[in-house]
Amino acid sequence: MVVKNICCIGAGYVGGPTMAVIAYKCPDIKVTVVDVNESRIKAWNDEDISNIPIYEPGLEDIVAEARGRNLFFSTNVEKAIDEAEMIFISVNTPTKTYGLGKGKAADLKYIELCARQIASVAKTDKIVVEKSTLPVRTAEAIKSILDNTGNGVKFQILSNPEFLAEGTAVKDLLNPDRVLIGGENDEDGIIAINALVDVYANWVDKEKILTTNVWSSELSKLTANAFLAQRVSSINAMSELCEKTGADVNEVAKAIGMDSRIGSKFLKASVGFGGSCFQKDILNLVYIAKSYGLNEVADYWEQVIIMNDHQKRRFASNIVKTLYNTVSGKKIVFLGWAFKKDTNDTRESAAIYIADDLLNEQANIAVYDPKVSEYKILSDLDYLGTRSETENRRGVEVYIDPYEACKDAYAIAVLTEWDEFKNYDWEKIYKDMRKPAFVFDGRNILDGEMLKSIGFVFQSIGK
Ligand code: UDX
Ligand code: UDX
Ligand code: ADP
Repeated sequence: MVVKNICCIGAGYVGGPTMAVIAYKCPDIKVTVVDVNESRIKAWNDEDISNIPIYEPGLEDIVAEARGRNLFFSTNVEKAIDEAEMIFISVNTPTKTYGLGKGKAADLKYIELCARQIASVAKTDKIVVEKSTLPVRTAEAIKSILDNTGNGVKFQILSNPEFLAEGTAVKDLLNPDRVLIGGENDEDGIIAINALVDVYANWVDKEKILTTNVWSSELSKLTANAFLAQRVSSINAMSELCEKTGADVNEVAKAIGMDSRIGSKFLKASVGFGGSCFQKDILNLVYIAKSYGLNEVADYWEQVIIMNDHQKRRFASNIVKTLYNTVSGKKIVFLGWAFKKDTNDTRESAAIYIADDLLNEQANIAVYDPKVSEYKILSDLDYLGTRSETENRRGVEVYIDPYEACKDAYAIAVLTEWDEFKNYDWEKIYKDMRKPAFVFDGRNILDGEMLKSIGFVFQSIGK
């Protein structure tokens, strides 16, 4: 079977870039990305390409080439479902904030809504691809909804987890380490799997396209994210020990990373991992393990999150401690708000939690991030519900000029590893700050010796 028409439900950080690259690489396939969020779709369709709603290096060029040719963004969900042979579900699956599994299980209400909508609209057979990160056995739930509410139409469900990392999405999509496709091992299942393999084979080596059963595919995604997060928590745990013993975490990371069994990637000590996936996926894994009574498995993975929360908290409390046990009324600058560089995404960013802690200590926080808007920063804090919106606006000021942000500040905290921070005129920044002037580098990106020679009191992670 040859797919000519793809629809993707959800025009977010996963659906948007993934579909843009499929359309770019497969000019013969019409790709329509739909979303209920009108302003998001409007932004994707903005004539000024720099206004597309997601910042990813290289994405503008890909969208500029494919949009209007075979890539379309629309709010007409039903029409797109009706026309497509293959439908990707790429909607958000946040952690539940209510009821059973609150704070742990994934909230599948958006997925279920999609499944019901597909079932009610479809008049011809469809291949439904789950692209969002989902708990194991979601495909089964989707199948049950589709098979029991449809109009006698046949559905094949595939699991095709996305492994792209934000900030490098385009690069990861153009040149993935692997593509994973899970499906049923019967005649129709294999036809569906092959149809999706053929889409990717337009630009990905066949050897890199793995096919498995649905459950292995679903669980591999959770496992990959759990392992990656675990590496960050492991090196962060060592960073605290390094600070006490006089070892240097960068030296330790380098030394262990050269062991080919360990590998050098994902060993950067930091203020704590963020992003929409790591915490959510581990919580999910913990929830699933517990639901099968596997308490040791659950506890093992939960520790990764406990360590991450500890790393964020101790960064904030170290700032307070170093500033003579009080930050009340003191201006503290946050360089960076995004959860990592080269993205405007802030979900679960460490900066949010550190700001929350410091606001509890009555600090005045000045934020500068090259890509994150004031609106986003304030709504991230409001969402926590720790204090009123008015109080958040009283305690936080967002700047568009980093030098202005640093004027009269007592301390600077680097929370995102944006490259531009390295090349600032640090002498000028020092001149305009209160003395002693402190820098807390939560990403280990600044040249500490240089800063100290200017006069800063400099602290970084794991040294
Ligand atoms: C280990 C370290 O590898 C080595 O670098 C260090 O110098 C000494 O400790 P060793 O204990 O000799 O070496 O063997 P290793 O290959 O690491 O295996 C240790 C145990 O882990 C074995 O029981 C092995 O069967 C087990 N193992 C290893 C697994 O169960 N699964 C694996 O994937 C790898
Ligand atoms: C992650 C996975 O990498 C990706 O495969 C999956 O599809 C989605 O989840 P993402 O969250 O976009 O991607 O970014 P990632 O690069 O994994 O970083 C996650 C967090 O870990 C960031 O806050 C980052 O700063 C932090 N991190 C990463 C570290 O603190 N140290 C490291 O060594 C690596
Ligand atoms: P991700 O990082 O997984 O891509 P995002 O939150 O960035 O998550 O994107 C998910 C998108 O899915 C949002 O833009 C949201 O509006 C959209 N969405 C959620 N439910 C539906 C639905 N039933 N129909 C269409 N779009 C949906």
